[in-house]
Amino acid sequence: MKKIIVTIDGPAGSGKGRIAKYISKKWGLYHLDSGILYRRLAEVLNNKNIDLKNIDKVKKIIKKHKNLSFRKNKNLRSEKISNIASKIAVFQYVRKYINKLQNDFVIQNIDKKGFVIDGRDIGSVVFKNADLKLYIDVDVKIRAKRRYKQLIDIGEKSIYRQILKDIRLRDKLDKNRKNSPLVIPKGAYVIKNESSLLNTYNKINKLIEKIQYGK
Ligand code: CDP
Repeated sequence: MKKIIVTIDGPAGSGKGRIAKYISKKWGLYHLDSGILYRRLAEVLNNKNIDLKNIDKVKKIIKKHKNLSFRKNKNLRSEKISNIASKIAVFQYVRKYINKLQNDFVIQNIDKKGFVIDGRDIGSVVFKNADLKLYIDVDVKIRAKRRYKQLIDIGEKSIYRQILKDIRLRDKLDKNRKNSPLVIPKGAYVIKNESSLLNTYNKINKLIEKIQYGK
């Protein structure tokens, strides 16, 4: 099996994480969730009550944290942390720091495994030379419904209209920021993940088979 890098980009709630987990299991690739790193940093800043607009204060905190854990944690998926994460993701300093953590991790482990990495700028900025780039697209109302269900499932009180508003705001921040905005990366396959997941998985498996076996 070739050690490949697969990137998955797409807007909030498009199902990137779930798809990445599936690919990871099916193809034996290590799943790196770049969003977790933004969320971890968001949690640290939130706990320390840092003014998010004050980049100097944010820089100071980053300098104290040479590393962030890649470990997933349900608490990091709360709406509060989601909103802070997308606010700090506009800063180039923050992005550089998080990109370096990802690059270092891949360089240190590339002999052992291939990777599937999901986020907003993975195929367009962080791993431009990936073997396969995917962009997952889903209508915003379907994403809001899915996100609403996710939050109810983790026991967070939520209102659908508010979730839709939050997702629209995060889309706006992600797509319009100056630094590494969310775009369809050059050479990426756009996958509509609106009907069945099985359909999505089949499409992706065919693309990976082509790389692995040339068929
Ligand atoms: O799972 P979901 O798509 O809701 O969010 P996430 O992937 O965990 O990312 C949280 C936030 O971090 C996003 O709203 C983005 O603003 C930011 N992010 C980013 O800017 N670049 C990445 N590669 C990953 C996340």
